Amino acid sequence: MMAFKKSSKLLRRADLYDPSRKTLAAIKDFAQENINVAAQYTEALTPGEIESVDEVKEDEGAILRKGLSKIAVYRDEDGVVHSMSAVCVHLGCIVTWNGSEKTWDCPCHGSRFDALGTPINGPANKDLPPESILE
Ligand code: FES
Repeated sequence: MMAFKKSSKLLRRADLYDPSRKTLAAIKDFAQENINVAAQYTEALTPGEIESVDEVKEDEGAILRKGLSKIAVYRDEDGVVHSMSAVCVHLGCIVTWNGSEKTWDCPCHGSRFDALGTPINGPANKDLPPESILE
């Protein structure tokens, strides 16, 4: 009988340290994060922040809609315009311009790209692909 009680207690401890266990708090966090990601995907359907690249000031960026695509537009300090897809290369959310850090940030899983689209924080590990703003 004593051996049974001891093994039963060990089993409960094993459950406690089971990496696949799911607590109510973890399930709630998981659901909230997925609702947030789903909301970010709707961003692909909204208009751009600007109508024309002329609206982008030097050393600033903004999102431009071109047909069904969203384009991340950055104008450097010399006035040269750089354009790339605004679709994050990780799982397809739309990046946003972070004016204080001068980066493109993905709201879904935290990837960050420099102003020219080079990844500086994962999980994305590829550049935002160049995309023309010309018709
Ligand atoms: S979709 Fe951008 S980091 Fe995951």
